Amino acid sequence: MSTILISGGMVVDQTGARTADVLVADGVIVESHDGNPDVTIEATGLTVTPGFVDLHTHLREPGKEEAETIETGSRAAALGGYTAVVAMPNTDPTQDCVSVVDFVRRQGKLAGLCDVHPSASITVGRAGHQLTPFAELAEVGVRLFTDDGNGVQNPLLMRRAFEYSKGLGITMAQHCEVEQLTDGAVMHEGDCCSHLGLPGWPAVAEELMVHRDIELVRLTGAPAHFLHLSTAKSVELVRRAKSDGLPVTSEATPHHISLTDELLRSYAAIYKVNPPLRTMDDVVAVREGLSDGTIDAIATDHAPHVAATKEQPLDLAPPGMLGLETALGVCLAHLDMSVSDVVAALSWKPALIAGLGGLHGRPIVPGEPANLTVFDAEEEWEVAPAQLASKSRNTPFVGVPLRGRVKHTVLGGVVTVENGVATR
Ligand code: DOR
Repeated sequence: MSTILISGGMVVDQTGARTADVLVADGVIVESHDGNPDVTIEATGLTVTPGFVDLHTHLREPGKEEAETIETGSRAAALGGYTAVVAMPNTDPTQDCVSVVDFVRRQGKLAGLCDVHPSASITVGRAGHQLTPFAELAEVGVRLFTDDGNGVQNPLLMRRAFEYSKGLGITMAQHCEVEQLTDGAVMHEGDCCSHLGLPGWPAVAEELMVHRDIELVRLTGAPAHFLHLSTAKSVELVRRAKSDGLPVTSEATPHHISLTDELLRSYAAIYKVNPPLRTMDDVVAVREGLSDGTIDAIATDHAPHVAATKEQPLDLAPPGMLGLETALGVCLAHLDMSVSDVVAALSWKPALIAGLGGLHGRPIVPGEPANLTVFDAEEEWEVAPAQLASKSRNTPFVGVPLRGRVKHTVLGGVVTVENGVATR
C-alpha cells in the first residue's frame, strides 16, 4: 500500500483545527515514515477532514441497476467526499435477509470506492406486516433498520420493533409519513399547492409519526433515528424529546435546507421528493435544528431515477433527487454554520449513528484509519449533470450556486478521488 503525504492543509476534526501535514502509511495515519511518500497531495488552502458518512443512500442494486449500481453510486459517493454510506433497503429484492445484505456488502467491496454498509428493512418486503430477523441481521453487522420510502404504519408492530431491537445494538430509523394523509400527494400542502390545484402532503403527516415514535421510545427505552426531517414542528418535537433525555437522533437532507415548495410552480418533477420540499419557514427551522444540534446529521437521501421516469407528469414521476456529489457544496452555501460544525454533521456524528464510529469520522491523529476528505471550502461552482458519476441525472441543483468542492478522498489509505477525478 502506498504512502501518502497530505501537505499544508487546514486539518479539521473533533479535536479542533490546525494547519498540519498528514502522513499515511499502510492505511493508517502515522507520525512519520522513512523515505519519500509515493503520493503527495498539496493541500495548502484546502481543508482536510475525516471522510464523510452518508446515513441515507439509495444505491438501487439489486433491482434497479438502470438508475444506479453499487459501483456508480460508490463512485458518486467518493466524489462527494464520502468514505462510507449506509445503503437503503428499498431494493428488489428487499434488503430484508442476510443473503441480500451480504450481496450489497460484497458489491461495495468489489467497487472499492467507499465502504458500503447495508441497512435492512424493519418489515419483510417493506410490506409493513412482519418484522425481519433483527438478531440474525444484527449478527452480520446491520446497525440501521428502516422501511424507508415508507413509514411503518402499524403502531403495534412499531412498538414490537422497538422492543425487539433493544439490546441488539441496532437502531430503528423511521421514514415518518402517515400514508392515509398523503394518498395521491405530489407536493407540500400549503398556499403554493392550493394555487396549483395539486394534491398536497400535509406537514402533519410527518409530525404525527415523529410524535408517535417519540412516545414509543419513551415507552420502550429503545433508540430511534428520524430520517429526512422536513417540517418546523418535527424539529421542535425532536428538540423536546432530546431535552427529555430520550435516545433519539435525526437527520436532514441538503435539499430540505436549500429548496422550497415554490419550485413546484414549474410543475417539474425534478423537484418531487418524499418528504416534499416545504416552505421557507420550514427550511429555516431545519437549518436551526442543525445549528443547535437537534438534528445530528446531514444525510443525502441520494435517490437516483432514470430520466424517462422523472420526465413524466408530477403525479406519475417517482419522488427523489441525487445528493452525493453536491451535498458539501449545498451545505456550505446554505448553512450559517462553521466549516467544523458542517463537517461534524457530515462525518463524525453520522458515523456514530451508523455504528461506524471505530472506522470512520475518527480524529486525524496517528494510529487512526486513513479515511479522509480534502476540500476547498471556498470554491464556488455549479453542477454539470453530464459530468456526474451517478448513472442518473435527477439533480435539482442545476443553476444553483454551490460553495465548497471536494478535491481528494482517501479510503483506507487508498486515494479514491484525486483532483476531483475518481481514480477507479
Ligand atoms: O424521495 C424519496 N425517494 N424519498 C424516499 O423516501 C424514497 C426515495 C427513493 O427510493 O426514491
